[in-house]
Amino acid sequence: MKNILVVGGAGYIGSHTVKMLRAQGYSPVVYDNLSKGHRQAVEEVPFEEGDLGDKARLAEVFAKHHIEAVMHFAAFIEVGESVKEPSKYYHNNVAKVLNLLDTMKENGIKYFVFSSTAATFGEPVQPKINETHPQQPINPYGNSKLMVEKMLEDFDQAYGLKSVALRYFNASGADDSGLIGESHSPETHLIPLVLQAAAGKRPSIKVFGSDYPTPDGTCVRDYVHVNDLARAHILALEKMEKENKSLRYNLGSGSGFSVAELIKEAKEITGIDFKVEYEERRAGDPAVLVADPAKAQAELGWTPQYNLKQIIATAWNWEKNRRF
Ligand SMILES: NC(=O)c1ccc[n+]([C@@H]2O[C@H](COP(=O)([O-])OP(=O)(O)OC[C@H]3O[C@@H](n4cnc5c(N)ncnc54)[C@H](O)[C@@H]3O)[C@@H](O)[C@H]2O)c1
Repeated sequence: MKNILVVGGAGYIGSHTVKMLRAQGYSPVVYDNLSKGHRQAVEEVPFEEGDLGDKARLAEVFAKHHIEAVMHFAAFIEVGESVKEPSKYYHNNVAKVLNLLDTMKENGIKYFVFSSTAATFGEPVQPKINETHPQQPINPYGNSKLMVEKMLEDFDQAYGLKSVALRYFNASGADDSGLIGESHSPETHLIPLVLQAAAGKRPSIKVFGSDYPTPDGTCVRDYVHVNDLARAHILALEKMEKENKSLRYNLGSGSGFSVAELIKEAKEITGIDFKVEYEERRAGDPAVLVADPAKAQAELGWTPQYNLKQIIATAWNWEKNRRF
């Protein structure tokens, strides 16, 4: 199985996966409406502009490129916005995905890899989140992703569509080449915001809450390099195909770092003492979110290869020379 349609492939995680697919001998084709993505991120592979909601266009692209499997990255991704505009999230992240799955069914495509999220778990009930942790999202973004996971279970049962759902923790870092990296608008993720403060593109970095029940009072998160995520996609695709079964994995490093620790590392790596402002907690931020990646390690042989320093260093390399 070599011809992979990468939906949302012009975005951050999709473009890194496209690069790795290509390096491993696959023939990825990018399908993206460029609402958030960047054409320059995927210059070296076939690109088909189109919307997830357009069944005719999807069917045309499936046939043209003899597509055998779909990797699906396209979604709206801002938790705060999803609370204010849930309809936008349920349309793009759920209704249009149903449309994609129906079109796959009609065209006999049976393999699907889905970008899910740690946000499907909600408030942690144990220190590290494994695959059996209850899934109780606390915002529409998390709900939208869990709904697709449920649709996928039903599509497997009824139509034999096999899927992998990968629940990423904090995707971060950039490709070592420095040619692609994280570029969201607006940017809401901590590492690019911190590095934009270091680069003088923002006056300061704001830290929300310093009174959490964590060693230094700031929130603890699990950062996983985007190329480690890309590698997990390919390993999981291959296992799903080989065993013809649906799979679910939590993808994180298994280690937590506090916001204050991350800022300290970023100051060391950049050599810049940028301004940090402490503010009140934001609603809906759990104190600690850390993955238990044991299942992905055992079943996929997947262990993250980039540590936090390497994550920040590659992101900094990108931030200093970014092309988009
Ligand atoms: N970035 C993270 O830390 C993180 C964590 C957990 C899960 N995820 C999930 O991973 C996926 C990729 O995230 P990202 O950070 O690369 O986001 P991104 O915004 O960089 O990429 C998403 C891509 O999808 C495209 N897209 C959106 N709606 C579309 C539509 N209707 N039709 C066609 N294309 C469309 C956008 O143009 C963009 O290129 C998302 O599904 C997100 O929910 C991301």
